[in-house]
Amino acid sequence: MKQKLEEIRSQALAALSEVSDVRELEALKVEYLGKKGKLTQILKGMGKLSPEERPVVGQVANEIRLALEEGIQSVRERLNRELINQKLKSEVIDVTMPGTKKDLGRKHPLTNILDEIKDIFLGMGYEIAEGPEVETDYNNFEALNIPKHHPARDTQDTFYITENVLLRTHTSPVQIRHMKSHKPPIRIICPGRVYRSDAVDATHSPIFHQVEGLVVDKGVTMGDLIGTLQVFAKGIFGENTKIRLRPHHFPFTEPSAEVDVSCWGCNGTGCRICKGEGWVEILGAGMVHPNVLRECGIDPEIYSGFAFGLGIERITMGKYGIDDMRLLFENDMRFLKQF
Ligand code: PHE
Repeated sequence: MKQKLEEIRSQALAALSEVSDVRELEALKVEYLGKKGKLTQILKGMGKLSPEERPVVGQVANEIRLALEEGIQSVRERLNRELINQKLKSEVIDVTMPGTKKDLGRKHPLTNILDEIKDIFLGMGYEIAEGPEVETDYNNFEALNIPKHHPARDTQDTFYITENVLLRTHTSPVQIRHMKSHKPPIRIICPGRVYRSDAVDATHSPIFHQVEGLVVDKGVTMGDLIGTLQVFAKGIFGENTKIRLRPHHFPFTEPSAEVDVSCWGCNGTGCRICKGEGWVEILGAGMVHPNVLRECGIDPEIYSGFAFGLGIERITMGKYGIDDMRLLFENDMRFLKQF
């Protein structure tokens, strides 16, 4: 019996050394240690042995069982390690491989131009002021010297929300808000979105963007306005740019002017951009009307000021040679990627 046991031991250990995967290992365990396994059978037959033989054989059988269990355990561990190593090898990441490229966003052309405008005025000591897009009729019109039924209202087709609440038609109401809450000296620009009930075409959109400028202090003159606008025009359109003022009328400034810059396409000789004129209109400006200062609690006998308002779309289209305003609002990536 002892000999039979030794045979089983060497058979089992030999088989164990040839096991190459977990399935074979489990099969081997069943073959020897399972309910009907070879070793189990022998242990079951021990009852038939004599009392002297029993402990001797029992000891050997137990030794073999232990040795087999340990052997199986260590082979199982080795197989698991091999499995993990294999997985690590096959799932290895090549960090030198080129990645998938993510599309990068970029600034909208309107934002580019607005940033340039802000830089110029911040450089001259201006602050940025903002106001709401939903305004009162008072801030948008009345306080700007445009009473009800004033013909100037017809030039700004207004989206009314109620009789006295509207979508601002220009950034000028921010002037009013600022003058009512700040004492001179005042030096601000007010960028923002404005609304007019215009039909959409190549040069009109019911939503567009303006930048308002306002300076109020003692002794501010038209000369200061012209000098400021010169700096601005050169900053945006280049050092050689000239400006020209044409008399105009705005209810909130007196005197008022429309301001042209010499054409950046042809330097004033006439081209497609300026339609042969040599000049391109870019903004409205003037000296703040005494009625407006007074309405905001500023004494026009002591203080004077200038204001100007420009359309960001117009300047952006001019500078980049964009001939249809709709392109600025459609957000087609093929268009936006060019800037
Ligand atoms: N608010 C005017 C407009 O939108 C522009 C402007 C502003 C003109 C300030 C003069 C002074 O048409």
